Amino acid sequence: METIQIKDKRFKTFISEEQILKEVARVADEINRDLADANPLFVSVLNGSFMFTSDLMKHLTIPCEISFVKLASYQGTCTSGCVKELVGLNNDITGRTVVIVEDIVDTGLTMERLLETLKAKNPKDVRIASLLVKPDKLKVDLHIDYVAMNIPNDFIVGYGLDYDGLGRNYRDIYTVIED
Ligand code: IMP
Repeated sequence: METIQIKDKRFKTFISEEQILKEVARVADEINRDLADANPLFVSVLNGSFMFTSDLMKHLTIPCEISFVKLASYQGTCTSGCVKELVGLNNDITGRTVVIVEDIVDTGLTMERLLETLKAKNPKDVRIASLLVKPDKLKVDLHIDYVAMNIPNDFIVGYGLDYDGLGRNYRDIYTVIED
């Protein structure tokens, strides 16, 4: 077992690159099968999903497009949780099949808000592909169409996911070691 130190936290290997890539390929197969005739637009949510998006796209064999977006916090203080604004979506999604590509769904609040924003733009269908889901932490009723892996509630880093901006570059996924 490999351990890494990021700032004040220690992490240990949790999911190997090999296992991640196997599950990402499976998700891509499902999408290839389901959306063969839909010419979907993949909307990749930066920063966390960059590795997942890249590996997923390499396995897609159907006609498709991709766009990268960010969720930016409003300036100022957040009273009832931070509302985040969608930036960078320049495509007209009216009547289109959209697939959100996200790194991790934790409480699901970010995804719920993103779904609302995209659905207001009159797409034909909006689907969700998430590399990871923490099912026990979900606070909202969310249907996640494509999930590479369900994981426990612990904090993780690697394969695009960060702790305070660090750790995105690791090929494997690491879980925090509680003291
Ligand atoms: P949610 O709104 O609670 O579902 O949070 C989703 C966002 O929180 C993700 O897109 C990540 O940026 C971040 N996040 C949640 N859990 C983790 C984790 O274990 N490691 C790193 N980032 C996480």
